[in-house]
Amino acid sequence: MGKHKYIVQLVFYIQNNLEVHQKTISLVVLNIINGLTIHSMKKRFNVLVTRRLHRSALEELEKKCNVYLHSGKIPIPKKNLINKIKDMEGLICHPYDTIDEEVISSAENLKVISTFSVGFDHINIEIAKSRKIKIGYTPEVLTNATAELTIGLILDVLRRISEGDRIVRNKKWNQIFGAYDYTGTEVSGKIIGIIGMGRIGREVAKKANGLGMKVIYHNRKPVSNRLERMLKAKYVSENILYKNSDIISVHIPYNDNTYHLINSKIFKKMKKTSFLINTSRGKIVNEKHLVTALKTKQIQGVGMDVYEVEPIKKDNPLLKLENVVFAPHVGSSTKETRQKMSDITAKNLISGLEGKRLLYSV
Ligand code: DGY
Repeated sequence: MGKHKYIVQLVFYIQNNLEVHQKTISLVVLNIINGLTIHSMKKRFNVLVTRRLHRSALEELEKKCNVYLHSGKIPIPKKNLINKIKDMEGLICHPYDTIDEEVISSAENLKVISTFSVGFDHINIEIAKSRKIKIGYTPEVLTNATAELTIGLILDVLRRISEGDRIVRNKKWNQIFGAYDYTGTEVSGKIIGIIGMGRIGREVAKKANGLGMKVIYHNRKPVSNRLERMLKAKYVSENILYKNSDIISVHIPYNDNTYHLINSKIFKKMKKTSFLINTSRGKIVNEKHLVTALKTKQIQGVGMDVYEVEPIKKDNPLLKLENVVFAPHVGSSTKETRQKMSDITAKNLISGLEGKRLLYSV
């Protein structure tokens, strides 16, 4: 009975206020229609992702984009890339995907290229910029991981850790049982010469300090006095760096000016007891000259994460040398860093497509 009383009151109220309610109802209906229209008009961007990203990054992309995730052979064959990119407005690529003039010109709708890397030498920046295509990359988040790997390679090649691993596995331990059969080189007290004092170079300097190394560096221009003091690093000319360093570590981008920067002339300047470490780009070092330098004992050893051709060719003569430590281009490859790189790559792409500023743009 009580319930009915309220219903009667409600009907009575609606009847009396019909005019007001009609207005409200029409407004609600209008909003719904508008909302639906805006939603259906909201553009979804077509984007190509050339390799798997973290789930969270893909989910972010999927909220706003039609994502075409390449799942076949990696790197994506150029023919497939050209074919796929035709209708795309966004591209997420990796250092092994060559985004050259041919690829860019086949992508008429392309607005943003977001690379899963700090290096962008695989992208023809000039052509992309002339087309007003925005380019995103992932610096900062991989600085520590790359610097850690650099230090790992230094310790490995100087203390002969991987070489020792091979000796033990191959059951040859008894051959190096004498006190002086297998001596490494101590890291502490050595001079490290850092070529390129950008983010990664600085982080390597910090970590090298911690290991008791003395830091000298060469850069286009010296860093601030404050930073030099903080990093306990001394700016020197290239020549002084090559002549005085016990370890030379390369941290510069690859471009026409740095192609084969480290070549036979440089190896001749280096100490015979010195080591070279390269975690930047393979083509900065002339590998043919490196092989000669190692074989003729112009330098003592090398730690490499990057190569002129990747993956390294099976007949690369470096593979036969004991005083080389190899890593398979994994400077930034830690679980922590790859997650961050994934997220930034997706954010860069979405921001660019939505006409906003990229988190990190080239
Ligand atoms: C970089 O980020 O450029 C690394 O070399 C990628 O692996």
